[in-house]
Amino acid sequence: MDTAFTYLKIGSGRSSSLATIETSGLTKRFESLVAVDHLDLAIDREIFGLLGPNGSGKTTTVKMLTTLLIPTEGDATICGYSVTKDPLAVREQISYVPQDMAVDPKLTGRENVIFFAKVYGVPRPREVADEALAMLDLAPRADDLVRTYSGGMRRRLELAQALVHDPAVLFLDEPTIGLDVAGRRRIWEHIIALKDRGMTVFVTTHYMDEADHACDRIGIIDHGRVVATDSPAALKASVCRDIVSIRADGPLPGGLPEGVAFLGRTDGEFRFEADRGDEMGPVLSRAFARAGLAVRAVSVRQPTLDDVFLALVGESDDTEAFDDRRFRRMLRRR
Ligand SMILES: Nc1ncnc2c1ncn2[C@@H]1O[C@H](COP(=O)(O)OP(=O)(O)O)[C@@H](O)[C@H]1O
Ligand SMILES: [Mg+2]
Repeated sequence: MDTAFTYLKIGSGRSSSLATIETSGLTKRFESLVAVDHLDLAIDREIFGLLGPNGSGKTTTVKMLTTLLIPTEGDATICGYSVTKDPLAVREQISYVPQDMAVDPKLTGRENVIFFAKVYGVPRPREVADEALAMLDLAPRADDLVRTYSGGMRRRLELAQALVHDPAVLFLDEPTIGLDVAGRRRIWEHIIALKDRGMTVFVTTHYMDEADHACDRIGIIDHGRVVATDSPAALKASVCRDIVSIRADGPLPGGLPEGVAFLGRTDGEFRFEADRGDEMGPVLSRAFARAGLAVRAVSVRQPTLDDVFLALVGESDDTEAFDDRRFRRMLRRR
């Protein structure tokens, strides 16, 4: 990637005693539903991932931080500006790529980005657009109509659009949803490159593995409450014991061996936490057999963010499952 950018000076020349993003008691209620519940966060020049299942309050949080929703209670500052008292100043500092942002398929990539640059009133819209397109590796396809772009290229085009007014903070809501594995990896590479240039990136996702690799810190949100905030490594260390998974049908047997804790169960797989997984696997397997349950598989591994999530918030049966088909329809329409 080219490093000599002239027009886009991401994250330059701004200073504040506050962290780039600070929230205090940030709350949003929809009638009786508390969608976001007293959020206290401080985020600075890093990739911060807000991680949680569907309906946990991620989009509502992002909308408050980007001044699109007024908090019911509490406040947040972006680069020192309050989202409630100074929303226009906040908007000058940020870009927001929503989950279902639209690019115009009848225009070329370059035309789309130039259009954005003009809307923002940036000087030299064409040069800025070309730089943003180059930064997102879209220069070779810049003059092709967007309707010929892949899903991953459209997402990168949306990122290019978001960069034209040189924001200090970038908000991305589920940036990799609906993309294939290669497309996802590429988006994350670009997000990391933006962070390395000094940008603060606030990203929501429900893909734990992606957050684990790309985010400097993660906030785990469930039913509107952030239940843990830390680096992925520290979060995993907080459930540092081995994970023993047992595939079996039926209820959890009683009388678990000492030193073993039940973590949760999904799709016929029971997960346990233990200090010596290699020893506890067979012991647990015998406990299942004694209870008359047929064990189909036993595996032992190090914890992942999924385990952290399950250990902290448990199963969330009442949240809506992600509808892949609906999402693909939405992408096609775009
Ligand atoms: N405009 C709204 N009116 C009423 N309820 C809403 C509105 N927007 C979101 N919600 C509810 O708030 C909760 C959090 O939603 P959201 O922030 O979109 O979650 P996420 O982005 O994590 O999937 C959900 O229960 C959702 O149904
Ligand atoms: Mg959402």
